[in-house]
Amino acid sequence: MVSKAHTKRIKAVSVSRPDIGPADEAQVLEVLRSRWVGQGPKVAEFERQVATVLDIKYAIAVNSGTSALHLALCGLGVGPDDAVIVPDFTFPASANVVRHCGAEPILLDVDPNTLNLNVDDLEKFLKTGSRFESGELRDTKTGRRIKGIMAVHLFGLPMAMERTLELAQTYRLAIVEDAACAFGARDTAGFCGTGGDVGCFSFHPRKIITTGEGGMVVTNRADVAETVTTLRNHGITRTESTLAFVSEGFNFRMSDINAALGIAQLHKLQAIIERHTEIASWYDEALADVEALRLPAKLDGRIYQAYVVLLERHDRKHVLDCLREADIESVAGTYSVSAQPAYKDMASCPNSQFAQRQSLALPLHTALDKPIIERICKTLRAIVAN
Ligand SMILES: Cc1ncc(COP(=O)(O)O)c(C=O)c1O
Repeated sequence: MVSKAHTKRIKAVSVSRPDIGPADEAQVLEVLRSRWVGQGPKVAEFERQVATVLDIKYAIAVNSGTSALHLALCGLGVGPDDAVIVPDFTFPASANVVRHCGAEPILLDVDPNTLNLNVDDLEKFLKTGSRFESGELRDTKTGRRIKGIMAVHLFGLPMAMERTLELAQTYRLAIVEDAACAFGARDTAGFCGTGGDVGCFSFHPRKIITTGEGGMVVTNRADVAETVTTLRNHGITRTESTLAFVSEGFNFRMSDINAALGIAQLHKLQAIIERHTEIASWYDEALADVEALRLPAKLDGRIYQAYVVLLERHDRKHVLDCLREADIESVAGTYSVSAQPAYKDMASCPNSQFAQRQSLALPLHTALDKPIIERICKTLRAIVAN
């Protein structure tokens, strides 16, 4: 028997829902019937298709966005005694991977409106918080060598890449783009993920397209692609007659089952982006005059992986509970890394902490229609009117 709670869950408007239909099912079924369910021809096809869509030389599929970021940093040679600049408001995986390489993140606060790194603040930090020593940029506080900047395009909003690239050149830093939420987004420098040294995507079910779990590393650099490809598969390199473990690699491979879903999803990328943008415009319109809410920043080329508002003063738990009462699911936006116990010794970042406390992701997926969005907005307006 289906429990009451379960019935209620099905009835409620969910915050996110992957767009999976008959074409996705057919692709996956084909792989199951082939019995080739590990990494194989579908992964190679998915990689080729992503490389074509993004117009980039190398696309290397992995089992998550986190693995993609981890391998990207390995590909850039990030190691012990190094540091990487990371925005404080992001999914903590962005910072965790820096530590997995033996390095430390330098957490910088985010812009209160875009929730991305503010390039002025980045420049200020580089000018006042770092210095060149024997041709290497060092963090003045810790003495660590600053290897790069992790440019996170949060919720699908591109961070200002042109100026970031200029700063990276001036300060001889590498750029890893955490485009986990921004597959298909563009800024003036091109597709998010393709402007820096290496870009990373996530295909988790809450992302714009999904492979179940999965990720992708993209780059135009042959050296980075080679390291990433080797480390993805246990550090193995092969020739026609030999196989050797040349480094201590990982098993971060994607399976053909996941890649098949990715191929089917890629066909509707544009349609999903357009639908999410349309829904975001309905929210924007219906909530524009609610002064208790800060709406997501608008920018040409952005995509909406999530529609995240900031509550200016209302208690988020109260708002979440009231929405749930109305059968509307909503969740926190994302996290302040420096507010997490694992990063307790880091300086706190006020804008990021505010966003962690006050951000609210509203339902966004292709199964929603205008009457549902109007109901969500009416309900939310009534909650924050008090
Ligand atoms: C900004 C950001 N980076 C990295 C990740 C990690 O991706 P995955 O869940 O595929 O490991 C996420 C996932 O939520 C994310 O939002």
